Amino acid sequence: MSVKDYIRTIPDFPSPGIMFRDVTTLFGDPRGFRMAVDLLLHPWAGVRIDKVAGLEARGFILGGAVAHQLSAGFVPMRKKGKLPGRTIEQSYKLEYGTATLEVHDDAIKPGEKVLLVDDLLATGGTALAGLTLIEKLGGQTLGCAFVIDLPELGGRQLLEAAGHQVHALCA
Ligand code: PRP
Ligand code: ADE
Repeated sequence: MSVKDYIRTIPDFPSPGIMFRDVTTLFGDPRGFRMAVDLLLHPWAGVRIDKVAGLEARGFILGGAVAHQLSAGFVPMRKKGKLPGRTIEQSYKLEYGTATLEVHDDAIKPGEKVLLVDDLLATGGTALAGLTLIEKLGGQTLGCAFVIDLPELGGRQLLEAAGHQVHALCA
């Protein structure tokens, strides 16, 4: 079985016309989950990574496991209004709506090497907002890793045009 085999597609969620890629079935399978976490790290084997930044919500599940695997710290990037300390924010467009992402302003120190992790790359707006926040704090972005890339939505081009390395396990 490949990572893709563990993911199911649910039509018309959260709104009509969206084919929602549901990774809970991947996360729920012991072999599938380990395979995904291990493969997300492949391009950065042997590279020092100080922090893994995970995007709410499914990026927390993957990013936490990736950070543990690396003995790196984990930085949650959350939807606006959820983090208790002083934050910086970045707004972005979604495939279905708009949102604002926040991070604690002391979560990344200048010069730290940071890998961004999320479950899915669609338009790339969420990931670009996360990468922008890392750079605003002075962190060095090593790249970003996703389980799924939806290539027709152009996220990879957006991120690569901004100079970021993009790694995805399946389309
Ligand atoms: C999904 C997904 C990514 C984002 C990708 O999260 O987990 O974070 O959309 O879309 P983009 O590439 O077009 O920006 P969602 O916004 O649904 O939030 P959730 O994980 O909190 O449900
Ligand atoms: N986020 C944006 N588009 C998505 C999709 N099709 N499935 C899951 N998460 C998404």
